[in-house]
Amino acid sequence: MKSVLITGGTGFIGSHTAVELIEAGKEIIIVDNLYNSSEEVLNRIEQITHVLPKFYKEDLCDKEALRRIFRENDIDSVIHFAGLKAVGESVAIPLKYYQNNITGTLNLLEVMQEFHCKKIVFSSSATVYGDPASVPIKENFPLHTTNPYGTTKLFIEQILTDLCHSDKEFSAVLLRYFNPIGAHKSGLIGETPNGIPNNLLPYIARVAAGKLERLSVFGDDYDTIDGTGVRDYIHVVDLAKGHVKALEYANEHQGIEAVNLGTGNGYSVLQIKDAFEKASKVKIPYVITSRRPGDIATCYADTEKAKKLFGWEAQYSIEEMCEDSWNFTVKNPDGVQ
Ligand code: NAD
Ligand code: UFG
Repeated sequence: MKSVLITGGTGFIGSHTAVELIEAGKEIIIVDNLYNSSEEVLNRIEQITHVLPKFYKEDLCDKEALRRIFRENDIDSVIHFAGLKAVGESVAIPLKYYQNNITGTLNLLEVMQEFHCKKIVFSSSATVYGDPASVPIKENFPLHTTNPYGTTKLFIEQILTDLCHSDKEFSAVLLRYFNPIGAHKSGLIGETPNGIPNNLLPYIARVAAGKLERLSVFGDDYDTIDGTGVRDYIHVVDLAKGHVKALEYANEHQGIEAVNLGTGNGYSVLQIKDAFEKASKVKIPYVITSRRPGDIATCYADTEKAKKLFGWEAQYSIEEMCEDSWNFTVKNPDGVQ
């Protein structure tokens, strides 16, 4: 049987996608250097699916290791999650981001070519839209980035576009995620950021768990419903199911497509805080602080293209996203170690 290689498959989105692919009957192989995840995630995937995925602890920057993985397996498609993703760190240490994300991807694509593997689904981000002129954001909006992390995504989108133009048999789907949150219903896999979280949901979860004192709300003077920033939060299981559909699409088509994966709904920071309080039954203390540099007021997806191309649409509500995130936090107070 042909296999799907999942790079970064022990990470937050990769592990949920691994579960959905196994449940869809696919054979998967995971490669991850465990820089931002733990090998224990593989056991958790086994507990959920009763399948222990084949795993390689390797770095995409090691091209020989990638060749060995392709030599030892019959891989016909790749879902490429592996990358560094901390926006602030990418501003402070840009070369680390360009080295890891770009070199890793170039190695992967070169080895894919050597082994005639021509289908890839890539984790891009809504960050490639910069500060959009209007919402909802459509895939054909102008692209612009404001930090090195986002620029790596844009560069990789361009590299894949050029590759598809040069090789008409190649198929690439660029998935532009909005804000993935939540966790698997089992509470066995979820998001475990190292150190103090940068993103809203993991931060709120730690406040609710009593590990951080209070939430800082970054600005209440945006032109939004309550003055706080509005984002399109999407349940990670919905996102994972979107990857299964995107892979099916890539298997049946050639060329390149960029597709938003979001819900099409925007929620403010205070609305999320309220939803999390309801789900956890814990009061979240908060303070309004100044705006975070680089933040935009409002960001949510136009979801028509995903519906049309993949027949996919997000299902989970914001309440379920918060409940599942809290369930994971309670069951794994120190994350998945
Ligand atoms: P994550 O950090 O949980 O997972 C990424 C995985 O890749 C980690 O397990 C890490 O160890 C691995 N990795 C990193 N560099 C590697 C390398 N050189 N070789 C092998 N493994 C490597 O992140 P995530 O939230 O699951 O994100 C997955 C992808 O989606 C990333 O590319 C990220 O940029 C993108 N994305 C994430 C978000 C988000 O908010 N979570 C939003 C938009 C896009
Ligand atoms: N926020 C706070 N306090 C916090 C953290 C966040 O008020 O402690 C606010 C932010 O100002 C923003 C909202 O919560 O209004 C969401 O912030 P996140 O950091 O959770 O998410 P971002 O939308 O800033 O960025 C995320 C990922 C990026 C990705 C982008 C895609 O971190 O990698 O979504 O839309 F590119």
